[in-house]
Amino acid sequence: MDKIIVLDFGSQYSHLICRRIREGNVYCELLPYNTTSRIIKEIDPKGIIFSGGPASVYLKDSPKPDLDIFKLGYPILGICYGHQLIVDFFGGRIKRATNREYGRADLIIDDKSNLFSRIENTIKCWMSHGDAAEKIPKGFKILAHTNNSFSAAIGNQKRKFYGIQFHPEVIHTDKGIEILKNFSQTISGAKPSWNMESFLEITIENIRNEVRNDKVLCAVSGGIDSTTVAALLHRAIDNNLQCVFVNHGLLRHDEEKLVTQLLKNRLGIEVVYVDAEKQFFQRLKGVSDPEKKRKIIGEEFANVFVDIAKRNGPFQWLAQGTLYPDVIESGFSKGPAAIIKTHHNVGGLPKWFNLKVLEPLSSLYKDEVRKVAKLLHVPDEFLNRHPYPGPGLAVRVIGEVTSIKLRIAKSASKIVEEELNAAGLYDKVWQAYAAVGDDRAVGVLGDERVYGKIVIIRVIDSVDAMTADWTRLPYDVIEKISDRITNEVEGVTWVTYAVSSKPPATIEPQ
Ligand code: XMP
Repeated sequence: MDKIIVLDFGSQYSHLICRRIREGNVYCELLPYNTTSRIIKEIDPKGIIFSGGPASVYLKDSPKPDLDIFKLGYPILGICYGHQLIVDFFGGRIKRATNREYGRADLIIDDKSNLFSRIENTIKCWMSHGDAAEKIPKGFKILAHTNNSFSAAIGNQKRKFYGIQFHPEVIHTDKGIEILKNFSQTISGAKPSWNMESFLEITIENIRNEVRNDKVLCAVSGGIDSTTVAALLHRAIDNNLQCVFVNHGLLRHDEEKLVTQLLKNRLGIEVVYVDAEKQFFQRLKGVSDPEKKRKIIGEEFANVFVDIAKRNGPFQWLAQGTLYPDVIESGFSKGPAAIIKTHHNVGGLPKWFNLKVLEPLSSLYKDEVRKVAKLLHVPDEFLNRHPYPGPGLAVRVIGEVTSIKLRIAKSASKIVEEELNAAGLYDKVWQAYAAVGDDRAVGVLGDERVYGKIVIIRVIDSVDAMTADWTRLPYDVIEKISDRITNEVEGVTWVTYAVSSKPPATIEPQ
């Protein structure tokens, strides 16, 4: 399958470039900026994109690619900082711009062959740069300009090296997808053969070849990711798959019954049910640090799996529903993106746990997983559910996990879901839940003053969990949620609504 690779120089938009290329049905992967030319040659992409980034090319320590990449003969497109790298490498000059450009600008196209073919003469583009080209390198031609950038797009059409100062990947640039399509498909010649039908076909074939007659253990949580993995493996290897549902006591209300029944009745998948509530609770006692909680949960999951492997095994593989954003966010791309949170389902398994790991969805974004799930006839009850974090209520209970806080988070979250459903909003938002910590506030119950817990409601909009915005819920829905929680959940006196977007906040509070 033809591929485009994006080298990540630290821009907040790097992963968006990848998504946009995939939207044009070409497979695209994000790699660290310093991936060696030897590895790139092995991957043999059709073309390479240098992302933007916050650095300045003229500074000594700024990130630079392996310069041999330019000798490999692959078409290259540099975006923003990536564009400046190309200018700098080929002998042009970059300096701090006198007129810095942030926001929308009119891009006037000077050359409509290749990169701007089938694009209007003037389009709106999104600029975000403090440095600019002062002199363009020999062999390069100006393809487009703005009022402030005489060389907003340049190209050496013979060698297929292009640089653009604006960001085609953000929605504020008109025809951004078309420009990226022109680079990936027309200039680089990548065939648009990436779609979920072909993904499914190739993945099932790969799993069969890799797993052969081995036995695979698959933890299912009821989330769309693990359910899709289970359905995929069920189709690929049938009886050599053993699914297991671990109740760690940090689940949504009645989750264990719902999931095991749905899997059995609707997908024909038998599930081993493990009640490990006490075991997890015991280990989490006295622990309030979020990363420690995640680590303990990862370890405890592994312990449970070892027990199951002893009882139901032997197994050679463990299947997990890891997605592409998990891989990127866990810092596995080793690019300049720092580790934000350790997601327990990536790399959290101890070394002694010697099952090979199968992660068939690790190259997919969430919306792509939904499409795969549909193709596998995963019922709507799974498809339409909000994502739920593996460590469950442990990341929604702030501080130590206690039975009181668990009860409050569980009951209050159920109310949030019920009220969103009643208002027809559940399917419109990305995630919605109630969190609780140790803070308390005074309330009045009848004639009595009580000192109760403060519950935080978090409802957010997102497309892939990489960025998120808080949902502007109608006041009457917030009011109903608040009234019901203070009336129905014992020990709660105040309800608050979280209005921080991601970044700077994250979706989960812990
Ligand atoms: P954050 O809080 O990092 O969440 O903005 C991004 C998305 O990931 C989910 N999440 C997790 N999922 N293990 C998981 O499987 C985890 O440790 C974890 N932490 C957060 C979160 O619900 C959101 O969808």
